[in-house]
Amino acid sequence: MKPISVSARQFPSDFVWGTATSAFQIEGASSADGKGPSIWDSFCTRPGAIKDGSDGKVACDHYHRYREDVDLLADLNVDAYRFSMAWPRVQPCGKGAWNEAGFGFYDRLLDALAEKRIDAHMTLYHWDLPQALQDEGGWLNRDTAHRFADYAYEVKRRFGDRIAAIATHNEPWCTANLGYGNAQFAPGVADLKQSVQVSHHLLVSHGLAMQAMRAAPGSARLGIVLNQWTADPATDSEADRALAEWEYARSVQWFMDPIFKKRYPELALRAYGADAPQVQAGDFDIIAQPLDFLGCNYYFRAWCSAEDPPRPPPAPLGTTDMDWEIYPEGLPELLLKLKAEYPLPPLYITENGMARADAVENGSVHDPERIAFVQAHLAALHRAMCEGVDVRGYFLWSLLDNFEWNSGYAKRFGIVHVDYQTQRRTLKDSARWYRDFLAHGAR
Ligand code: FCB
Repeated sequence: MKPISVSARQFPSDFVWGTATSAFQIEGASSADGKGPSIWDSFCTRPGAIKDGSDGKVACDHYHRYREDVDLLADLNVDAYRFSMAWPRVQPCGKGAWNEAGFGFYDRLLDALAEKRIDAHMTLYHWDLPQALQDEGGWLNRDTAHRFADYAYEVKRRFGDRIAAIATHNEPWCTANLGYGNAQFAPGVADLKQSVQVSHHLLVSHGLAMQAMRAAPGSARLGIVLNQWTADPATDSEADRALAEWEYARSVQWFMDPIFKKRYPELALRAYGADAPQVQAGDFDIIAQPLDFLGCNYYFRAWCSAEDPPRPPPAPLGTTDMDWEIYPEGLPELLLKLKAEYPLPPLYITENGMARADAVENGSVHDPERIAFVQAHLAALHRAMCEGVDVRGYFLWSLLDNFEWNSGYAKRFGIVHVDYQTQRRTLKDSARWYRDFLAHGAR
């Protein structure tokens, strides 16, 4: 990919620039100070579940090194940091007693961020459900939605004035489809009916948590983060076009329609048939809470080919180390489509970035492809904003190389390299580029 000229000055002066991480992927300290086990702690012990056989016991040791990591953020000139709270760290069983030592960690982290004038954008659930709740059925058990609302209330009550934005869920699509649909993620179930029911309970839990947090003190803005993509048919054939429509309905509309239109998309409901979720009276009123913001995570488009084997995407800009097609144009396409279909609140791009097989050479990491990737996506995002999409911020995934779920530590998404033997952090060229990009912005 060629470098593209893009400047932070092109964006509004109050545009929020940040980087993102999540608790299980960086914190480590998986049983420290009273933390309870999460479903990811359990999943990592399942033979073959994680490609490199690793786990989250130490990860980036951020739990102990958060000060150094906040210094890195300050050095990068970011305005904001997106991270998640580990539910089992603050409530080991997912109900009942709170763990003050666990809250203490986030208290210190928030202090460190405030000291550097970095806004906190926190996610309540980035996939690490307390194992104790899983033992009672996890997200398949509707009661978990109520437990989640209790947790949300408590977090907002304690920290609501020190956090700029709280998202209920990160990518419920993944929990439902990868956690329950194809067993790639915790808790490792492969059952369509369960996966569809779980997606409904996640949406209900989002609505209940929004209601609970609205009732709690604190000024934090409230919303949800969804992973989204456009779905392009590989050819003009009827089969490919039908596949693309189905893909968009089951992935994007499945989560957007309930939140903004109080219904599930007809196409998907019909296709699910007997696997459609059980919806109780009033559920859509719970789910469709007004949002202060919507977070959109964008990595690639869905390329839909009904042929066997499927036609690969053209990928003129190449693919990443995850084998994901690099397709910046999909970002404005997606945002303009969403704007046309839904009454959107302000948007944030809450994740965007790429995996690359990075290595430290003589103290440096040269990752020009990542710089070009971010530049191309920012240029594309800017075009969407010029066409009227209200986007308020961009969070690069990720601050650090980290535990990439079932890929373990083999995939590096960070703009900062982590040597997992020594925990040494090394700024990659992309981090230096981002720092300079932000330093030359009109802020
Ligand atoms: C997203 C996840 C994030 C990270 C990136 C690469 O789906 O939210 O935790 O794994 O993908």
